[in-house]
This record gives sequence, structure tokens and C-alpha cells, in this order.
Amino acid sequence: MRTTQNKDWTKLIIGNSELTFPFFLGPMGAGISLSRLVAAVANEGGAGTLTTVGIREIWSQKLKRKVSTYEAVLLEVETARKLSPAGVIGLNVMVAVARDYEDSIRAGVEANIDFISVGAGLIGNLPIIDHPHRTFIAVIVSSARTANIVLHRFKKNKWKEMGYELAAFIVEGPLAGGHLGFTVDQVTKSEFQLEAILPDIKKIAQENGNIPVIAAGGIYTHEDILRIMSLGADGVQMATRFLATEESDASLEYKLAIVNATKPEDIIVSTCSPCGLPFRVVLSSPMYQAHLSATRPLRCDKGYLLRKDAEGNFTICPAKTDNHNFVCLCNGLLASIGYNSGEEGIYTAGANAWRVTEITTVKKIMDELKGHT
Ligand SMILES: Cc1cc2nc3c(=O)[nH]c(=O)nc-3n(C[C@H](O)[C@H](O)[C@H](O)COP(=O)(O)O)c2cc1C
Repeated sequence: MRTTQNKDWTKLIIGNSELTFPFFLGPMGAGISLSRLVAAVANEGGAGTLTTVGIREIWSQKLKRKVSTYEAVLLEVETARKLSPAGVIGLNVMVAVARDYEDSIRAGVEANIDFISVGAGLIGNLPIIDHPHRTFIAVIVSSARTANIVLHRFKKNKWKEMGYELAAFIVEGPLAGGHLGFTVDQVTKSEFQLEAILPDIKKIAQENGNIPVIAAGGIYTHEDILRIMSLGADGVQMATRFLATEESDASLEYKLAIVNATKPEDIIVSTCSPCGLPFRVVLSSPMYQAHLSATRPLRCDKGYLLRKDAEGNFTICPAKTDNHNFVCLCNGLLASIGYNSGEEGIYTAGANAWRVTEITTVKKIMDELKGHT
């Protein structure tokens, strides 16, 4: 069992891991929550979640040869484990990134990852694999309805019998970064805020074997953590505060755009994502600005977000033919971490990004979150 040390908090068990500070660094794709950031959080007693988005491209460029998603995930987990041998390290897979979904899960199982979090769409399928050990799945949900669907799918598909265990619900409210599990109209309504959706999901989790519930989206301070835990959360997941850390793999331009966003209106919810889910972006992001004037030439050369056509081939993405309503997220996100020269970045962030005032270290933020400063 992997354990973390921090005597101030009630410990949280996720699968075979024990967290005495019940804190998760949320996945940040593409390529932001990689081994450096994840290990830094894990070394401070939190659990870190590696993103798998864009990982094939990142490792292919690093090794100067074509690397598969499967291999890239193995390499990233291995790197993170070296940087944090005793830390709790998870892997995030996105349902919307359909082409890499299964391969990422397979590699996570092979790497004996501590947990796999599944988000950006409702959990689809879990591959049939020979499990040398149980695989712990944390599912990101944004309503009691989706939590019930997840439970139903686990039973119906006999995922437990296949070696998977539902280890946590990550309840993500509408203030989160990245893709949102809400309509644009719902984002600002009180009944969809984290505090409002948490209790019903907690009840469902309690009725189904006391599944831990992790709250995410808009949590920013030590006091926020205490408050959301008093409402029933067993732990928290945060991302935005860690975007502009020294250990984050976001580009310097991205970090500075976060620091230079100084008011709530600098961060907006957009429908520009080809995934079909609302997506939160920093208004000043160069690719978002280019999108507003539809000046980016149409091109699809990465294809992470392609969906299957009638023949079962991955060919469909609305951004291939329409740069007025959609942005090319594959290129935009990779440009935001300094890959993909010639393209401009699109910077996603949570609603609280305007509160970030400096580029700082993981240790400083973690100390503050634990209430040590
Ligand atoms: C830059 C950024 C990228 C994100 N990418 C992903 C992702 O790839 N997969 C995912 O499940 N969640 C993603 N998220 C959501 C976070 O993991 C997290 O749950 C959420 O942002 C927490 O809210 P906070 O940012 O207010 O702390 C992303 C968030 C940010 C800020």
C-alpha cells in the first residue's frame, strides 16, 4: 500500500492507496499535468493525475521516433514513479479522445497505476484485459443521474468481475477548467453548482458501498477545502491553481496569460470545442482570438479528437471544416505546452484562474492548502 504522511487530515483510501491529505491534482491536458507536476504534488502528500491527452505526440517528439499511445503512457508513468517512488499516481483518460481511450487504460493497467480517472464524457467501455491486480477507477460525474448511470454500467457490464473497481466519484462542478459536464445555461445556475450537486451524489455513493466522493471545480483555498468537506466530500481535486506553477508543463506564455488575467470576465465558457461540450478558456488565448476572426487556415494533422464515421474509421471532427464555430483543439492544446511550432495556443483554465497572481511552486501552494501557512 502506498501512503502519504500528513497528520492534519482524515485519511482517505482509494484502492490500495492511503492519502492522509485527501487531495488530488486534477488531470490537465494536453501535456500539463505530466510527471514533473504530478510527482511534485505526490511528494507533498497529494495524489497526482497524469494526463494522457497528446502524450503520443509529446513522447514522439522527445524520442524523435513514432511512439504509440500505449508506449508513451508507460514511459510517462515510469518517469513519474522515478520522481516520486512512494507517491500516489493516477492516470486520466478522456472518453472524448476516443482513439486513445482503450490503449491508455491498457497501459495504465500494465503500469500498475494507482488509479485511473475517466472523464470528458460518460464512461464508455472498459477493455477486457488480464488484470494481474485490481484496477481502481475514479469516474468524473456532474450529476446524480450520471452517477447512477455509472453504477448501472458497472453492474450490467460486470466490470468488477473483469478486474475493475469503482474506487471514487469525482464530482466536478461548473467552475472547473477544461470541458464541462453542463450546458452553457447551467454553468451559472445555483442548482448546478458544486455545493448543490454534491449531497445527492454523496447519498448515492453511501448507498452503494460508501464509495469515496472527491469534490472538484472552483476549490481554491484551505478554507474552501474545509467547507466542501463539511458538506460531505471525502477529498478534493484541484487543477487551476497548479497551472502556473514552476513544475507545470504549460508554456511560459500560458502561465503569463493566467497571471495576467485579473478579473472574472477574462475567463469565459465557450462552445468552440469540437468535442461538443462547453469548454472554459482564457479570453486572451491566441488561438481563441484567431477563432473569433476565423483567420486560422483549416488543417487537421493530429486527429486526437476524430470520431468514427459510418464505416468505423476515425475521420470526423467538426473543426476540420469549420473554424468559425470550432477551434482545432489538438493543435491549440499542443501549442499551449510549447509543442507544435507554427500554431497558436488555446489556454483552458477554471473560473478562478483570474485569482492566480504569480508563478510559484507546488510546495508553496500545498503548504497553504494544508493550512500550514
Ligand atoms: C488546464 C486544464 C486542463 C484540464 N484537462 C483535463 C483533462 O484532460 N481531463 C479531465 O478529466 N479534466 C481536465 N481538467 C479538469 C481538472 O482536472 C479539474 O477537475 C478541475 O479543473 C478542477 O477545478 P479547478 O481547476 O477550479 O481546481 C482540466 C482543467 C484545467 C484547468
